[in-house]
Amino acid sequence: MRLLHVAAEVFPLVKTGGLADVVAALPVAQAEQGADVRLLLPGYPAVLEAVQGARTIIDIGACFGALRVRLLLARMPGSKLPVYVIDAPYLYRRDGSPYQNLQGEEWPDNLQRFALLGWVAAHLAADDADPLWVPDIVHAHDWHAALACAYMAEHGPTRAASVYTVHNLAFQGLFPMHDWPALGLGSRLMSPTGLEFHGQLSFMKAGLKCADRITTVSPSYAREIATHEFGCGLDGVIRGRGADVVGVLNGIDPALWNPATDPAIATRFDAERLAGKHACRLALQAELGLQADEGGEAGQGSLLLTVISRLTAQKGLDLVLAALPELVRAGVQFAVQGTGEPALEAAFRMAQQAHPGRVHVHIGYDEARAHRLMAGADVIAVPSRFEPCGLTQLYGLRYGTVPVVRRVGGLADTVVDASPAALADGSATGFSFDAATPAAFERCVRRALELRAHPAAWQALMARGMAQNYSWQGPAQRYAALYEEALGQRGRVGLVGAG
Ligand code: ADP
Ligand code: GLC
Repeated sequence: MRLLHVAAEVFPLVKTGGLADVVAALPVAQAEQGADVRLLLPGYPAVLEAVQGARTIIDIGACFGALRVRLLLARMPGSKLPVYVIDAPYLYRRDGSPYQNLQGEEWPDNLQRFALLGWVAAHLAADDADPLWVPDIVHAHDWHAALACAYMAEHGPTRAASVYTVHNLAFQGLFPMHDWPALGLGSRLMSPTGLEFHGQLSFMKAGLKCADRITTVSPSYAREIATHEFGCGLDGVIRGRGADVVGVLNGIDPALWNPATDPAIATRFDAERLAGKHACRLALQAELGLQADEGGEAGQGSLLLTVISRLTAQKGLDLVLAALPELVRAGVQFAVQGTGEPALEAAFRMAQQAHPGRVHVHIGYDEARAHRLMAGADVIAVPSRFEPCGLTQLYGLRYGTVPVVRRVGGLADTVVDASPAALADGSATGFSFDAATPAAFERCVRRALELRAHPAAWQALMARGMAQNYSWQGPAQRYAALYEEALGQRGRVGLVGAG
């Protein structure tokens, strides 16, 4: 089967979050299972510099406000994976993130930038762009790629079916309705049963209304987004799609996140060689200027807690900040790395100043450093208000870094709380809490502190986490089954129902 993944990010070329990790790893797993997989990406400078062997497939010419647009075909660096790149210098060749300028403002022409991405995908699907390769499935990721589904539905039946994956329903790609003519879509879709969302134009709705099948990145999040609490105003639309919406839990790249081979960490280790993890812990404390405690290995001394995260309201890090003084007193050390909302960045900086030697905060994005934190910490906290899947708790499990998570979305699906029953039957892998309050988070970390005072029990918990299999093989098979269903039902979506 020929699969085209359409996305705005891919690791290691362009990454702002877990989407990039998924778009890098899932296609590789699918290719290993025999699929003929390609990517389609916008030609940001980092993409154009990194891809190999680029050649022009078609000169598209002027569109979406750009004068020169070409479609290139290249290979991902270090792999054989073919990647189409849209080279539109006027739209994509600029400094900053895929979505924002260096001042953190959304690019004013994001509508054109990401409409072009979906439009090219639809042309590939319509056998209009590359005479040598036509996809059976267009798999669009998040709102940036969602218009692919609308252009495909608008064009009418093609050989290809569309699958739309929601990685985060909170980011919807909303634009003023008066920009509608720039999309070149017919008026049929310009209504609440199409792309209109409370007087605005919603890219997210293009995926939710027009895709043949919809997936999200965990079974719990698939259920949650059908509710008012988590639906971000789109729960009616999601309920309207019924059984077309399914949750497929993300995997992780077992080669990239493997403590036995990780080149970024001080000493490599695995479940049989945990002394290496202790060495990573000491190296991390030295690197960050945190008080060293030799007792760490025996379950004594501080509990070293890490957070590696976007600093946004989603991630619930205000709970960490509020509980931090009490937890420092109880013997917890904090190693935080993230970027995001200025108020959260400032609050974490202040926490470091208030607790020298106990709290270390790095405001910044650093991939290698994230690996060192993951390897050296005892626990990783992910207290999210909502979490479609979450990858850092999965990386934590692999590195023997016990997850402390809020029981929500993908966190609920991947971490088994160390209740007395789960400890007794050997199913526990971490700690979870329910209420999004500092007190609930604090109690949960205190439970981790208590268990860590029992080295044998703690090591058993670590070992169980490390033995979990979150490779992409299972998810890739589930997507394969879903693609078959989507092909069987393509073009069936009637664009009617709840607005
Ligand atoms: P989300 O996509 O919502 O941000 P995920 O847990 O799915 O959350 O993925 C986050 C990814 O980004 C992980 O690979 C994590 O290691 C990485 N990450 C987040 N913040 C940083 C940072 N400041 N430095 C390095 N990596 C980070
Ligand atoms: C989103 C979600 C995160 C998920 C990631 C990859 O960014 O916030 O929970 O793990 O996408 O699917």
